[in-house]
Amino acid sequence: MALFGEFAVNIILIGFMGSGKTVVAKSLSKLMSLPWIEMDDLVYKHTNTKNMHEVFAKGGELLLRETEIAIVKKYASKAGLIISTGGGVVLNKIILDYFKKHNGKVVFLRASFETILKHLQNDTQRPLFQDQAEAKRLFDFRMPLYLSYADKIVDVDHKSPDEVASAIEAWIQS
Ligand code: S3P
Repeated sequence: MALFGEFAVNIILIGFMGSGKTVVAKSLSKLMSLPWIEMDDLVYKHTNTKNMHEVFAKGGELLLRETEIAIVKKYASKAGLIISTGGGVVLNKIILDYFKKHNGKVVFLRASFETILKHLQNDTQRPLFQDQAEAKRLFDFRMPLYLSYADKIVDVDHKSPDEVASAIEAWIQS
């Protein structure tokens, strides 16, 4: 169980698409022996889809955002989870407020746009990362949101997922 002071917490990873939330969650899950859940996978389960293109084809971005809200209500009250979120969860204040209200410790994986471009150069899975200029606009728009929700910021440029996971573990244990 992840303890923060005397409370069992959930560790919530936020950050832009391609910042490494999934790989870091995997590594952190191993390091801390905690279960890990991926919000995008739960979105597919809840919407009976297989990928994000199907979600958008079925109900557009609205279906994604509504499903994310339904998921947070279901999972936030559990304890001792690592949750890797979709990059857009910061768009609905209710999601991060809900996580925090239920002992969620929010870690912002801060990547530069250059790092994100490197990670996503061959990606075809993200409907909101089709056009680089539009993605940069989203990145700039969301940056203050990620910062405002972060209990902890971890810079991820030039770091391996294991190094980022160790930094998060050290913070949780401190
Ligand atoms: C999105 C991020 C994606 C996924 C969807 C929309 C966003 O998750 O939820 O494509 O709006 O930033 P990742 O951050 O895991 O790529």
